[in-house]
Amino acid sequence: MRAVTTHRVAVLPGDFIGPEVIDATVATLEALAPRAGMVLELTPLPFGGGAYDAHGHPLPEATKAACSASDAVLMGSVGGPVGDHPWNRLPRELRIESGILGLRKHLGVFANLRPVTVFPGLEHLSPLKAEVASGTDMLIVRELTGGIYFGKPSQNTPERGVSTDVYERFEVERIARVAFEAARQRGGRVTSVDKANVLDVSQFWRDVVIKVHEDEYPDVALDHLYVDNAAMQIVRQPASFDVIVTANLFGDILSDLAAVIPGSLGLLPSASLGGDVGLFEPIHGSAPDIAGQGIANPVGTMLSAALMLRHGLGEGAAADALETAVRTALADDPTRDLGGSRATAAFTDAVIEALPREIAAPAAPAAPA
Ligand code: NAD
Ligand code: IPM
Ligand code: MN
Repeated sequence: MRAVTTHRVAVLPGDFIGPEVIDATVATLEALAPRAGMVLELTPLPFGGGAYDAHGHPLPEATKAACSASDAVLMGSVGGPVGDHPWNRLPRELRIESGILGLRKHLGVFANLRPVTVFPGLEHLSPLKAEVASGTDMLIVRELTGGIYFGKPSQNTPERGVSTDVYERFEVERIARVAFEAARQRGGRVTSVDKANVLDVSQFWRDVVIKVHEDEYPDVALDHLYVDNAAMQIVRQPASFDVIVTANLFGDILSDLAAVIPGSLGLLPSASLGGDVGLFEPIHGSAPDIAGQGIANPVGTMLSAALMLRHGLGEGAAADALETAVRTALADDPTRDLGGSRATAAFTDAVIEALPREIAAPAAPAAPA
């Protein structure tokens, strides 16, 4: 008899399309769990603009505590329309987006992995020429709990705006190690992206990456690009990259750029690791422009759930099955943002339909002799 494992997952649907992509993903996970011999206890929690309106804070204390006490956190997306909106006039510490930063910091998830893959047979979904997009398989390793997102001083007065970009040595060392370790499991190459020609904080970043490489990872190939050139090269020859490691702000920008290479911002998942509990979220926002129409692409969230199964819950076979089913559904007929005809619900049904009836249990460890 196969043992049934129970996993406790904190689920943060969020705002606008957040609950739409989370509902789709939860339906998929609920179909998957019994076939993979797991029980998933999925607990929805208030987070984001809705939490601010109901509880006065985008990241309520109870949500924080429940996330720390869970085995993994699965998040949709939060925030309001980008124009004038009451949420955008809140003091910085209550801004909805500050809730995300607070959660990342609280969980200590300094390493944000954003895999960008153009799957064979799905090149036609890319806005780039198929021969340029073909073979794209890069991993963006974004530093997530430091840099200009968190540096002090930070100030917005009528006469002066200040943000501070700062990295401590240990912060660069640990994210560099994540990138080099990942490269060893992949193509063996790391590209560190910075702005060392202008910024002291970037020259520091580069010096530390070089030192970690020399001392600990001489078997991995390392090169460096300035961020402006990196943006251009990612579009011009995306398949030439293996692992990219970069600071918080550069990683935010480059990952939206890279996300559209497979076809849509709605496709890209992420895993944020490095603390006791991992955080798994699509890289896109709450897309108020399409919310409520039932057309949001749930793939980024479904693939984030797959990363959660693999990296957060140790359920590699279930993760593989979910990724394969998503790929099958995409090849068959994708969502509208990709030029397909399926709404969120129909796409979700197709993913569930493509799941195997049973997912093989991991091989049992050999009995002691
Ligand atoms: P966005 O990512 O929400 O949307 C950008 C564009 O991509 C929009 O045209 C949108 O319709 C489209 N898009 C995004 N996700 C999609 C999906 N799953 N399916 C189909 N199309 C999709 O970025 P924005 O408009 O700059 O920001 C909107 C709000 O989201 C803001 O409040 C912002 O701060 C917030 N935001 C939150 C997160 C997060 O929760 N992790 C991430 C980024 C932005
Ligand atoms: C992302 C988002 C967030 C970020 C914002 C909404 C705080 O853009 O996850 O990419 O900048 O990290
Ligand atoms: Mn972003």
